[in-house]
Order: sequence, then structure tokens, then C-alpha cells
Amino acid sequence: MQLANRISKIEASKTLQVKEKALELKAKGIRVIDLTAGEPDFWTPDFIAQAGIQAINEGFTKYTANNGIPELREAIAQKLMRDNHLDYTAAQIIVSSGAKQSILNALLAVLNDGEEVILPSPYWVSYPEQIKIAGGIPVIIDTLQTDFKLSVDLLKQHISQKTRAIILNSPCNPTGVVYSESELSALADVLRDQDIWIISDEIYEKIIFDNLHHFSIAGFKDMIEKCIVINGFSKSYSMTGWRIGYAAAPGPVIKAMSKIQGHYTSNASSISQKAALAALHGPATEIEHMRKTFETRRNFIRTQLDSRPYFSYAYPQGAFYFFINISKVFGKDAGEKTIQNSVDFSSFVTENFHVVSVPGIAFGADDFIRISFAASQEELEIGMQKLLQAMDQII
Ligand SMILES: Cc1ncc(COP(=O)(O)O)c(C=O)c1O
Repeated sequence: MQLANRISKIEASKTLQVKEKALELKAKGIRVIDLTAGEPDFWTPDFIAQAGIQAINEGFTKYTANNGIPELREAIAQKLMRDNHLDYTAAQIIVSSGAKQSILNALLAVLNDGEEVILPSPYWVSYPEQIKIAGGIPVIIDTLQTDFKLSVDLLKQHISQKTRAIILNSPCNPTGVVYSESELSALADVLRDQDIWIISDEIYEKIIFDNLHHFSIAGFKDMIEKCIVINGFSKSYSMTGWRIGYAAAPGPVIKAMSKIQGHYTSNASSISQKAALAALHGPATEIEHMRKTFETRRNFIRTQLDSRPYFSYAYPQGAFYFFINISKVFGKDAGEKTIQNSVDFSSFVTENFHVVSVPGIAFGADDFIRISFAASQEELEIGMQKLLQAMDQII
């Protein structure tokens, strides 16, 4: 019996090898410092959780409208105006089971088979695979020489007759880089007259440091008509398990996304929608506390990395990751093995120092590893000490 062709086009997780090693060690009772987390290490704020509980107690446990409950879409429209100065109506918003679903909905709604999607690298792991699931071709642009950001020149060089969309992600996972207002404005100038959809993933919007301000490319002149703005509750509100994300876009795109979503997941969880509504209406104190904690941790790791001459890294001004260049160890012997790539390095450090990182190859950059600072200060201190020890030993 055969499986569908599309399955062979989608890559399985490249990080499995390292994860398996970590699990093996844990099973032996060894303390493993896991710096791979893609989610905040905080509880969902209590007032949000209580809204979910109340929804259950009140029997709000049935199907809702495909696009999401009207009061949540209205609250999202208000949020987009308040925080981002973007003028959307509730009808231009669709709530999904996580931003991950919102992005796939968007790609399925705008791509025809064989059309190209521009994707700056390093990129979030799911983008290339989602593009392929939607029948598109990822056109990956390496930004290692341009401070991990897509430049105007690089963008112009990669636009072709077949380009149908581009994915931008600021603050970025895995690098943490944040596009400035002028950088986005310059990209908008190139894209304004093109027949290209801009999928702008802004899910780390609230986790931003150094008093920076988040800008959406949809906010520049005439750009709102070309943009599909993606956001969600997972990262800002520490609600990964609640699975609520959303997209804001011109009406016809939202209608198309709704048509698709209606036939495979219907609405996002009714209970989680009520919790998300509470998140938008509630106090920002805990959100700000999480943001500040991430910034303190970012500063700590930076000092640690700067204590050695052999690390270079993307300076994270947002999100909760460090993307560290470890290529200086390539070609060096570590135990019985010579380190050749990011998987070798991550595996070696996991096995011998019990600190787990994500190999950069998963994000399209094999000279790097990603470590997450969504971990406690104690774990970060032990983890960093061991990571430095590992580097000192191999170098
Ligand atoms: C850049 C980026 N976009 C989207 C998502 C998906 O988030 P959600 O939990 O809302 O599906 C993630 C999660 O890791 C992410 O890092």
C-alpha cells in the first residue's frame, strides 16, 4: 500500500536524534538541562485560566462560529488598532487552533501548485514544510551576511514571475532579531507594487527588549491590502496548550481561510477562546513580568557568551532564543568523533555535558545551535557553565 507523494516531500524533524539522546539520559536518572523549549516556562496567568474554567462551568463547550466567537474577533480588532495602529474589522479576523494553523490556512488560501514563497533563513522550522504542504516552493534566502535580516537587495534578487508570497517573522524565531521601522519600510517599498502576499508572523510581538517598539509591515502605506498578519496567545500570554492563534487580512482572504478551516478543524476550542478573550481584556502586569524576566535572562546569557572569544551570535532583541555560531569547533575531535556539523555538536554536548540545544540545521543554518532562555535562572546558570566547559574542551 502506498502513501501520498506529498508525505515524501515533507521532512521529519531533524532534531529527533538529539531529543532521543536526552530522553535516554533522563531515563537513566541523569539531570539533563533542556534548553530547547519553544514555550514560556511560566504558568498561564490565573485570571486567564479562570476564564477557561468558567467557560466549562457555564457549559460553553459546543461548536462556535468557524471564524471564532464575535466578541473575541472584536477584541482582537481593538488590540490590532491599539497596539499596532492597524484598522481591521472583526470580519477581517479568523481565530484558529494556534498561529501554526493560521499560517497554514493562509498558505492554502493564497498559493497555487508550484508558486514560490520567499523565506528568509534562518527560519522557523515549520515554514518550509507548510509551504510544501500547500503546494508551494520555498525560495530560501540566506541572511547570514546581512545581520540575519532580509535586505532590500536580497529581496529584489529573489522575486520572480512565480513569487506569490513572502513570510516575514519579527521578532524572529530562532535568531531573536527585530526589524526596525526603517527596515520594514524599505521592504514595503519593494513589495508595494508587487502581486505578492506578505504573511507577517508577529507572534513574539510582546517579547521584545531594549525598549524597542514592534512594527508591523501592514502599517505602512497601502500595505494592509497585501498583508496577512499572524499573531496568537501562545508566547505572549504563556498559553501554548490552549491553542489559540489568529490572522487578520482583507475580507476575501479571511473568507477563503474560513472555507478551508471549516472543513478540517472547524472552530478553535470554545473554552480557549473565552480564555483568550480574558487575556485581551485583563491586566498586562504578568505579561510585563514575563517580558522583563526574559530580558534579564537574555542579558545573563549574553555576558556568559561574551566571556569567550570563540562564540558569535545573533543578538536577540526579542523572543527567547540565542542563535549561536559554533562553527569554530568544526573539524575538531570530541571524544571518538570529529565534530562536522550542528547535529554532531548538539549530540556531543547532550551526551557528555547533559545540556540539550537544537541544532541550527533545523532552522536552515548548520553553523549554529539554538538555545532557549525559557528556562529557570538556575538551569541557565548550570547550562551555560557546561556549554562553555564543552567549548573549552573541544577548542
Ligand atoms: C515563529 C513562530 N510562529 C508560529 C508559532 C506557532 O505558535 P502557536 O502555538 O500559536 O501555533 C511558533 C511556535 O513555536 C513560532 O515560533
